[in-house]
Amino acid sequence: MNALLEIREVSKSFPGVKALDKVSFSVKAGTTHALMGENGAGKSTLMKCLFGVYRKDSGSFLLEGEKIDFKTSREALSRGVAMVHQELNQAGKLTVAENVYLGRFPKYNKYLPFINMKEAIRLTEKLFESLSVKVDPRAKIETLSVSQRQMVEIAKAVSYGAKIIVFDEPTSSLNTDEANTLFSIIEKLKKDGCGIIYISHKMEEILRISDEVTVMRDGKYIATNDAKELTTEKIIKLMVGRELSGRYPERNGEIGAPLFTAENLSDEYTHLFDVSFTLHRGEILGIAGLDGSGRTELLENLFGLSTRKSGRLYLEGQEIFNRSAEEAIKNGFAFVTEERRASGIFGILSIRENTVISSLKDHLFGPFLSNKKMSEATVSYIKRLGIKTPSEKTKIRSLSGGNQQKVIFARWMLTDPTVLLLDEPTRGIDVGAKYEIYTLINELAKAGRGIILVSSEMPELIGLCDRIMVMSGGRQSGTVSRGAGEEEIMTLATRYL
Ligand SMILES: Nc1ncnc2c1ncn2[C@@H]1O[C@H](COP(=O)(O)OP(=O)(O)OP(=O)(O)O)[C@@H](O)[C@H]1O
Ligand SMILES: [Mg+2]
Repeated sequence: MNALLEIREVSKSFPGVKALDKVSFSVKAGTTHALMGENGAGKSTLMKCLFGVYRKDSGSFLLEGEKIDFKTSREALSRGVAMVHQELNQAGKLTVAENVYLGRFPKYNKYLPFINMKEAIRLTEKLFESLSVKVDPRAKIETLSVSQRQMVEIAKAVSYGAKIIVFDEPTSSLNTDEANTLFSIIEKLKKDGCGIIYISHKMEEILRISDEVTVMRDGKYIATNDAKELTTEKIIKLMVGRELSGRYPERNGEIGAPLFTAENLSDEYTHLFDVSFTLHRGEILGIAGLDGSGRTELLENLFGLSTRKSGRLYLEGQEIFNRSAEEAIKNGFAFVTEERRASGIFGILSIRENTVISSLKDHLFGPFLSNKKMSEATVSYIKRLGIKTPSEKTKIRSLSGGNQQKVIFARWMLTDPTVLLLDEPTRGIDVGAKYEIYTLINELAKAGRGIILVSSEMPELIGLCDRIMVMSGGRQSGTVSRGAGEEEIMTLATRYL
């Protein structure tokens, strides 16, 4: 089969970083080609060079044998190359239909400049229907959830009728149903002869949907393999360059006295009903459940981000209230959230500033902030988590997506929290760095702190937690201890649906 897209010795540097070093491989028509590699390996940069967001320094792209060199993404779209970006970049005030047809609105006729909004809405409706996307074309983007916004982006990319579609970590914010919708869209596109380039850190997903897998490391091409010949272990070895002994560090701490108790918690908007549990010192308590089961709402409520209708909180026997995030932080709580784009990142600030911002009082020298202390703290986490950056002074927005998430994690670790709330903390983070994060969580537990972990990755919960509380329809449907299987948890998760 001839290559639909050929990538030949493409190189690209940023100040202080060689992001791409003579990368070559090709993508066949009618296949899904996965692109994998650790955070900062250069995956997004390569695709942005193809799509006209960045200019490559050297090398070439060939589409059906013809050289292409797009200067803008608009040019790429008009020539049959579309891309769904890792970071959502939509205008929130616009409606869904306006977003989908931005820059190419249907007109009443070719002589009049007026755009036909009704027609745009009708076309969007038709498009969504054909793709089984369930979003109202008239809704304002800012009213949608992150996953709905992601589905709109996917539908939009498909609507250009492109020959090559790049998906950069499309499922990082999708629930299982939405991800399955995406996979069937991809199947359809493949049948039409499209070439799909698919970037993800989720091994199970990659092995399920891709035909070929290319691995990059440190800006270099490593290998391309038939997906059928690969296993998770083989991919990890190609990505990391060595074998990992396991995906989860051993749990070996002691579980101590009760640390934190929540009693009969309900929230005002009925996402949570009567939730009670106790977290012990040294314990990692997992929260499992399907999308919409109230997992995130529970953490938000504990952290003072939503109003409590009823219920009480006790920290070491003392009643606490956590009525606001500020109060929760004062009580020794920290919250690593799943939406690094919506909350948490201060793009124009440096990595150092982003890292120390929640623990400033620990970096004082007399009454002044000590640059030395802040740098030491930041550099130690850069090393520990393998944050790929030329310097601690680099602006955080120039980091790759996964490396930004590592900075957020470091920020909250530095507050040395008594109770650490984690909501999908390893989303978009590569396997090697995940292991480091798990180790840090373990160490924190060992030091007598308590951890509550929400994750939709079942293996992560099972591999890491001492107990798992399962939620279903806003209620707790059961708690299982270490050693419980996926099936048992899934049964509990569907109990109150
Ligand atoms: N606009 C930019 N300015 C400076 N450096 C950049 C910029 N974009 C990317 N880089 C650097 O280029 C390297 C490759 O980043 P890239 O975003 O391509 O990684 P990635 O493989 O997509 O990682 P992830 O899995 O975390 O998304 C990183 O070291 C990153 O810091
Ligand atoms: Mg990326």
